[in-house]
Amino acid sequence: MKEIKFSIPNISKQDINLVGKIIRSGWLTHGKYTSLFENEIKKFTKAKYAVSVSSCTAGLHISCLAAGFKKGDEVIIPAQTHTATAHAVEYTGAKAIFSDVDYPSGNISLIDLKRKVTKKTKGLIVVHMAGYPCDMKKIMTFCKKNKIQVLEDCAHAMGSFFKGVHAGNFGVSGSFSFYPTKQITTGEGGVVITNDKNFYDKIRKLKAFGIDKDIKDRKKQGDYDVKSLGFNYRMTDFQAALGYNQVKKYKKNLATRHKIAKRYIKNFSKVKNIRFMPYSKDSSYFVFQIFCKNRDNILRELKRKKIGVSVHYSNPLPKMTFYKKKYNLSLKNFKFASIYGKRNISLPMYPKLKINEVDKICDTIIKLV
Ligand SMILES: Cc1ncc(COP(=O)(O)O)c(C=O)c1O
Repeated sequence: MKEIKFSIPNISKQDINLVGKIIRSGWLTHGKYTSLFENEIKKFTKAKYAVSVSSCTAGLHISCLAAGFKKGDEVIIPAQTHTATAHAVEYTGAKAIFSDVDYPSGNISLIDLKRKVTKKTKGLIVVHMAGYPCDMKKIMTFCKKNKIQVLEDCAHAMGSFFKGVHAGNFGVSGSFSFYPTKQITTGEGGVVITNDKNFYDKIRKLKAFGIDKDIKDRKKQGDYDVKSLGFNYRMTDFQAALGYNQVKKYKKNLATRHKIAKRYIKNFSKVKNIRFMPYSKDSSYFVFQIFCKNRDNILRELKRKKIGVSVHYSNPLPKMTFYKKKYNLSLKNFKFASIYGKRNISLPMYPKLKINEVDKICDTIIKLV
């Protein structure tokens, strides 16, 4: 049986040629593609500012610092997310507070989030799970009223919109991931978007050692000062070139993702034991998620049949030893995050995936539920 991969990056010959050109030029970082890539991101998301970074985790870290999170503060995050969301908070000394999620969207539960607010709450990081946008109207209304700064973890949300506005434009920043399984890739890499000039200035400095002047703005070599601590979270220019080409052709990629999502929905629509979110024109369909009670059995069988799938995510973060021990957490307070973790399967979603392969994935799963 021919293997169906979980993920194939959408890299073309043109992309490889461009990356090769940058590598051959010898100008590997600080080059023009970094700004060209950032400009394409601004065009696509309609954000005022974009800063490329070495990963989404790096973007979240410097966003948390720029938001001023520090020891003594609490920052609420969903219990179901990649550990990077929580780590970014903890790097600053602030405490990650976990909120339950809605099932089956996997997005943060507004009801539980409200319960978790204390006098120490300084921030909230939302995650648009699998590309399905959170209800940013309700979240922003609540957070504005309670003076809670919102950051968006947009690792899954390139091409996700809420009421016509691209994800990442609601909170003070949105951090995206370009890891190889993501909608677009730069190998490792990410970008932070913001509409706040002051925040933009802060993250630009934080990403590059705290240096106050970009190379292009220096009057002579060494003409810069360091007034604060910073990191080296830069992306290389050949990664940025790959990202630049990928964003340019992303509209087509996104349209294909929607076509594939509709096919999954059509195939599963009459199947009793498979749950999934209804079709949304606003989702970017990072993956297509389904929820089944006999999930682990299905995972085993799909592996045997060489059909690649993934799980986003299995263990809620309060179950991870580091957080469980540090904060003495119990899963009984995260009912829906636990159900979500036990039942979700992420199905393949990429432009090179053929419709007959989608049908084969569906037929196989339907026989297993
Ligand atoms: C929700 C979420 N946040 C953050 C990250 C971290 O992204 P990166 O690998 O680019 O650091 C991931 C990774 O997949 C993720 O899924």
